[in-house]
Amino acid sequence: IEVDVKTDLTPSELEDIIGVYHGLSIRSKTKVTKDLLSKAKNLKVIGRAGIGLDNVDIPAATSADVAVMNTPLGNAITTAEHTIAMLMALSRNIPRATATLKDGKWEKKNLRGREIYNKTLGLVGIGNIGSLVAERAMGLKMKVIGFDPYQAAEAIEDMGIRPVTFEQILSDSDYISIHTPKTKETTNLFNKETLLKMKQDAMLINCARGGIVNEEDLHDVLKSNHLGGAALDVFETEPPGKICLMDLDNLICTSHLGASTFEAQDNVARDVATQITDYLLTGEAENIVNQKSD
Ligand code: MLT
Repeated sequence: IEVDVKTDLTPSELEDIIGVYHGLSIRSKTKVTKDLLSKAKNLKVIGRAGIGLDNVDIPAATSADVAVMNTPLGNAITTAEHTIAMLMALSRNIPRATATLKDGKWEKKNLRGREIYNKTLGLVGIGNIGSLVAERAMGLKMKVIGFDPYQAAEAIEDMGIRPVTFEQILSDSDYISIHTPKTKETTNLFNKETLLKMKQDAMLINCARGGIVNEEDLHDVLKSNHLGGAALDVFETEPPGKICLMDLDNLICTSHLGASTFEAQDNVARDVATQITDYLLTGEAENIVNQKSD
């Protein structure tokens, strides 16, 4: 396999050269559109170093007979660790403590935190990342409940998680963490109505995808102090700019850093290189998300 590394291409630069390639490896920035695919006359496979495939027009790839694959495992631990970091930072006001101290202030009373010991963590989505978050939360002595319509109750119980309905997640959790892809069903899943069903003072963490939580509704619910706080790693539009949420003290945020560790980026790069090579050389199809249209 001959490999060309070309980063930072504009969409039209990529369109100009894509015709000669059999494989295309991307991270999150490159958009694989119908237009790009119409120029990709030799393309057989697109590999995403990472999980989310929001940047690939999968139906267009399927009709062009191009396989689309992701690497669902290589950054799962890193993302689970980021979720726990958000949970801790939110509970102990670490971002505000850093900011006020750097501003010359010595705040204690305003920044009193809360223990996570014995608190209930509700997981929405218990796939690769959700299950790793559960393991870690149990290690921190949290009680973990979970909702995942794609998993059997016994499989959820086997992970030590109590299976519950979505409504029970809302009413019973002290913390809710989201680990689902963004789909028609999950877009705006957390809106004013569902957010207000959460326990007064509960906290919400989203390290999955922007748009699963409605940002305007979250703003209103946080502003009214119904929720204790929220931690967002992902946004409806990225970068989000100065959206209304940014003015709130009870929101903490990171710039889609969930999968951003040296280890995870190395893992997904190796995974995608191996998968693309195997596919092109032997036809072995690992982590393909679309079916060939023949
Ligand atoms: C992923 O989908 O792998 C993560 O959200 C990280 C990313 O988009 O790069």
